[in-house]
Amino acid sequence: MMTEKYIRTIRSFVKREGRLTSSQQYALDNYWADLGIDYSENLIDFETLFGRSAETVLEIGFGNGESLWQMANNHADKNYIGIEVHRPGVGRLLHLVHTSGITNLRLSNHDAIDVLKHQIADQSLDRVQLYFPDPWHKKKHHKRRIVQPDFVHLIAQKLKSGGIFHLATDWENYALQMKDVLNASDEFTNLSSDNTFVVKPEERPTTKFEHRGHRLGHGVWDLLYERK
Ligand SMILES: C[S@@+](CC[C@H](N)C(=O)[O-])C[C@H]1O[C@@H](n2cnc3c(N)ncnc32)[C@H](O)[C@@H]1O
Repeated sequence: MMTEKYIRTIRSFVKREGRLTSSQQYALDNYWADLGIDYSENLIDFETLFGRSAETVLEIGFGNGESLWQMANNHADKNYIGIEVHRPGVGRLLHLVHTSGITNLRLSNHDAIDVLKHQIADQSLDRVQLYFPDPWHKKKHHKRRIVQPDFVHLIAQKLKSGGIFHLATDWENYALQMKDVLNASDEFTNLSSDNTFVVKPEERPTTKFEHRGHRLGHGVWDLLYERK
């Protein structure tokens, strides 16, 4: 099927291995077994994974993991799943989770599209977070942007009715694309009063990429949608 091929061949990331610090490597070698989610084509049972039943939040592309760790630390009552393809970021967050002792965060080191399709049950998530996805500035690369109609439909499938999809970007042209794609979806309601953007919700910590945007003088756009 054409759409399936499109999603599978055009990736939203370029795999750059990067150097692992010794503490990131140590964390990957020693903490993954307890805190990592291996990729497979079987659905994850959240209750088994976390040893409890609780609201589940999934974040795509957590980068160095600092802001996701802060959220999980601030909301011990919720379960968090973070997905990131960049191994140093995964190693860094594994280290943070282990040393802080929080028990409500698990990590996947795989393409979020495959994880969502194959490992996440339909209507199982309370919230999906996508903060500062790769902006792919050049027009010829816009097809690599993760927010596309098929992606939005995939997120809609995985959210419970009433679940929230929260996005943020520091790239205005991408913010407008996000708004247009999501506003065109009949599966979501825009929670902004004028059908555009919202003020940064307090529960979202500033991310590493956002700090970089501030330094470069970029604006920030938050978008909040509810699954119908
Ligand atoms: C621009 S960075 C932002 C990181 C972080 N959210 C922040 O704000 O600091 C985007 C991240 O998304 C990750 N990423 C992109 N596409 C992905 C995918 N399909 N699955 C998992 N991670 C992805 C990249 O590896 C990168 O670390």
